[in-house]
Amino acid sequence: MDSIEIVGGGPLVGSVPISGAKNAALPIMTAALLADGEHVFRNVPNLRDVHTMTKLLGQLGVEATYEDGQVHVTASGTIEPTAPYDLVKQMRASVLVLGPLVARCGRAIVSMPGGCAIGARPIDQHLKGLEAMGADVELHHGYVEVNVPGGRLKGSDVTLDFPTHTGTENLMCAAVLAKGRTTLTNCAREPEVEELARVLNKMGARIEGAGTSVISIEGVDSLNPVDHAIIPDRIEAGTFMVAAAATRGDLLLEGIGFEPLEAVIAKLREAGSTIEREGDGIRVVGSEVIRPTDIITQPHPGFPTDMQAQLMMLMCLANGTSRITETVFENRFMHVSELNRMGADIQVHGRTATVHGVSRLEGAEVMATDLRASASLVLAGLVAEGTTQVRRVYHLDRGYEHIEEKLAPLGANITRVTGNA
Ligand code: EPZ
Repeated sequence: MDSIEIVGGGPLVGSVPISGAKNAALPIMTAALLADGEHVFRNVPNLRDVHTMTKLLGQLGVEATYEDGQVHVTASGTIEPTAPYDLVKQMRASVLVLGPLVARCGRAIVSMPGGCAIGARPIDQHLKGLEAMGADVELHHGYVEVNVPGGRLKGSDVTLDFPTHTGTENLMCAAVLAKGRTTLTNCAREPEVEELARVLNKMGARIEGAGTSVISIEGVDSLNPVDHAIIPDRIEAGTFMVAAAATRGDLLLEGIGFEPLEAVIAKLREAGSTIEREGDGIRVVGSEVIRPTDIITQPHPGFPTDMQAQLMMLMCLANGTSRITETVFENRFMHVSELNRMGADIQVHGRTATVHGVSRLEGAEVMATDLRASASLVLAGLVAEGTTQVRRVYHLDRGYEHIEEKLAPLGANITRVTGNA
């Protein structure tokens, strides 16, 4: 297993291109199951999860290839609507094939995704919505089996108990080929949900309200293949914004607007950074003094849970105490123990972490546990005194395109060490 070695140093300076959004690419790739023909997706990041999804699509009977930032998916004729455990266990986002398969084939057998490091992550809301649309849902031997009597879902009104991000995406995909109108209420409003609706509408779907908490979908009889360039990754961008703030640097993030990052920008400004639009990007200049600030993670447009670990790392260097409350996932503080090993002073009580700022962090050997926790440890290594080795960086590679290749040109002393146990 690879690890990443960082020698803490000075400010990061320069410009960095932001890659396509992982959490937009994944649902959009599954949408290709809804229409025969060749789909072309551009600006797709070169990530482990994207390659896992191409493998999964291949197992479902469609041809999917990744090359130079493009994914080509050719769906034609028979689809085998069974998603096996060995792929689903590698990536929870595999559950995103459920909606398209049920819409297209009238049935699906998908391994239950199981929990992961950050929580149990059930899919009860996904299944409740499919049942409301006329599907029979059964759980057998770790698989969810969905069958639609008559083969076609019926439009229905569904109110979600929680604005679940992939739940909203799954049900939107299920509804686009249903007979009649579906209204989804209490939907997720993340930019990636809006992007999926944009792609589905380009394919001929009739979706209104994406990006708000009520989405209406008028079912159609068939859809067409699509050629689409994926939006930039707001979480990758946010991660680099924190890198600029923590190293007191000056970074220009290329190809990303303010809109999807308002909550993160507000918090970084509170902490002292200067953040302005510049060209087609965002310029972030870190402040010498980092001010403490309190954070509560919430569904979009609230502060994103996927940025919680990164902001916590920044608050470790603040000149005061910050309180960080994680309301979205039940176990998303794994980075705390690792940051404390680097000299941070963080206490966790229930869903709130109290971060007492310290004057410096010290390099150490640390273990990545989940995607964003590992990003926060890399950020910590950039400013810690001495050398930090982040192990199990396969977590990092799931969501960041070789982050060390983006950080090194900005002045970071960072290298990937292959094959470490
Ligand atoms: C998506 O996960 C993202 N993944 C996550 O990104 C992100 O952290 C999360 O949304 C929040 O924005 C993808 O888009 C592939 P949820 P998802 O359903 O859809 C509970 C990353 O770092 N819940 O909004 O799984 C659930 O347990 C990843 O890129 C139910 O109880 O998130 C959790 O506590 C990590 N029942 C909360 O809702 C359900 O049926 C949020 O889950 C569904 C969800």
